[in-house]
Amino acid sequence: MIKKFLLAIFAITQAILAAEPQGGKLLQVVETFRHGARYRIYNSSYPDNDQINYGELTAEGQRMHYVLGVTLQQKYADSLKFPQTYDHTFIYAKSTNVNRTIMSAYSQLAGMFPLNKGLSVENINNQFLIPPFDPAPVNVDEPKYALAGGQQPIPIHVKEQKDEKQLLGYMDACKNAAQWSKDNKDDSDWNRIKGEFQPLIDKLANDKYFQLPANPDLDIISQLVDTLIAIKWAGDATKNNEIAAHVEGFLMPLDEMMNPANFNVMWVQMNLLYTIQLHLALFKTKQQKQTSVTPFFNELLAYFNNYLNATDSNPYFKWIMLSAHDTTIAMVAQGLNLTSWECMEQVKNQTFPSNPSSPCIYTYPGFASNIIFELYEDANKKPYVKALYNGTAQPLCGTADTFCYLDQFAQSISYSIVSDFDKECDNPIYVSSPDSSSTPTWAIVVIVVVSVLFVGALGYIFFQRKKILSLQSLDKNSNYSQI
Ligand SMILES: *[C@@H]1O[C@H](CO)[C@@H](O)[C@H](O)[C@H]1NC(C)=O
Ligand SMILES: *[C@@H]1O[C@H](CO)[C@@H](O)[C@H](O)[C@H]1NC(C)=O
Ligand SMILES: *[C@@H]1O[C@H](CO)[C@@H](O)[C@H](O)[C@H]1NC(C)=O
Ligand SMILES: *[C@@H]1O[C@H](CO)[C@@H](O)[C@H](O)[C@H]1NC(C)=O
Ligand SMILES: *[C@@H]1O[C@H](CO)[C@@H](O)[C@H](O)[C@H]1NC(C)=O
Ligand SMILES: *[C@@H]1O[C@H](CO)[C@@H](O)[C@H](O)[C@H]1NC(C)=O
Repeated sequence: MIKKFLLAIFAITQAILAAEPQGGKLLQVVETFRHGARYRIYNSSYPDNDQINYGELTAEGQRMHYVLGVTLQQKYADSLKFPQTYDHTFIYAKSTNVNRTIMSAYSQLAGMFPLNKGLSVENINNQFLIPPFDPAPVNVDEPKYALAGGQQPIPIHVKEQKDEKQLLGYMDACKNAAQWSKDNKDDSDWNRIKGEFQPLIDKLANDKYFQLPANPDLDIISQLVDTLIAIKWAGDATKNNEIAAHVEGFLMPLDEMMNPANFNVMWVQMNLLYTIQLHLALFKTKQQKQTSVTPFFNELLAYFNNYLNATDSNPYFKWIMLSAHDTTIAMVAQGLNLTSWECMEQVKNQTFPSNPSSPCIYTYPGFASNIIFELYEDANKKPYVKALYNGTAQPLCGTADTFCYLDQFAQSISYSIVSDFDKECDNPIYVSSPDSSSTPTWAIVVIVVVSVLFVGALGYIFFQRKKILSLQSLDKNSNYSQI
């Protein structure tokens, strides 16, 4: 019975249902993804003397994104005319301001825009190719390409974390977010769910191998899982076998972990706890769910509209790359109604009802997880949207269909976001929009008159000063350092 029930969940997440419109033409792709494998970020769990390179991308992580880049370039080579030589009108790449996400974006771009496809300098006179430097710069042995091997440099845009609303709307860019997370800890839902996992928590706490504190909380267990995943991906067989002796299923490949038959395996349950904890902290209340994803969805609709409004003389990007985090993927997935802590608690209890139009992704957004939005137009040039999670099309807009017309998509999204992100967040820069009718006419007249007098006075001072300066020829010592 339980097995049958879980198979139903599995079938839903795998489902390809209603046929999409005939003759659909792909117009644009917006992808967002988590960085690849990284070194561990927590000290508080599973002590280990061999801790290096905190949070940095590993070689495995670079390779994951390189492979994803090659895969995506090939997949979209025909349908989107994805070029192998970088074209600044084709792609816009953006990353959060974190080493591992910037490096993941570079790695993926290296797969999309490979060696031997960069710009050529073959027939150009050497005098145009050398930088000014004394003594003469070295002679580079690359006869054909601008860069050795035809590498391709590609710009990746980054904002400071406090300004990164689109990809980190649940962090520094939202002033209230930290307090919201704090409020969720230790409330009745948190404690009930902790209770549901108590046998697992006790088992880990009682195993001296992990050196956990007494009565570990969901946070502590999540940090342990995070650390164990980082260690697993480092690929040291001896170490991994050592851990596998304490965690049943630790070495299980990913597709086996998603097999319902393995639902009660210890490592699968640890990952479920880890996923629920993420949502309970960041995307628990309606306010958190809706506020966090608002900038992302607004930007997404703007990308679509900019593309649809573009003309030959004023083109818009066919590809938007957004390099981000597990929490970003979780944020977007919950915003699309593909997951929530509520549905995951039901999955945990094995009471989740099978319904193809409301799925429940309960696996953690692991390294290089990705969500790809595709914008199409049908035979009547009506735009529609698809969303792929790890390459698999997901049900959209409250239906079992794996596509949704853009107008309906925008409508669905409008119910999943807030009208004013900065206001919800209580952001310091937030200024309530001015009501123009409340500015009396006399005030405008006064402002105009004062401004005219002020500009006049400035002009007079400037004219007098210039006369003096030119007399003294002080401009000989002009300082250009500020230009
Ligand atoms: C964790 O511990 C290591 C070694 O003791 C130290 O070098 C590192 O800075 C610590 N990292 C954090 C994030 O606390
Ligand atoms: C990121 O890279 C910079 C150098 O570019 C380094 O100083 C820093 O320690 C790295 N890690 C973090 C978390 O910023
Ligand atoms: C085009 O631009 C206008 C405003 O400039 C906007 O209202 C509209 O949604 C955009 N998209 C489409 C598909 O027309
Ligand atoms: C899950 O089961 C627990 C009892 O183990 C119960 O307290 C809780 O209400 C159930 N939650 C859901 C969402 O089914
Ligand atoms: C997507 O891939 C990641 C990384 O392998 C994995 O952790 C996650 O469970 C996958 N999610 C889905 C819904 O396929
Ligand atoms: C998610 O579900 C809610 C409630 O059914 C609905 O109002 C909203 O439009 C849905 N959001 C999306 C993006 O489908």
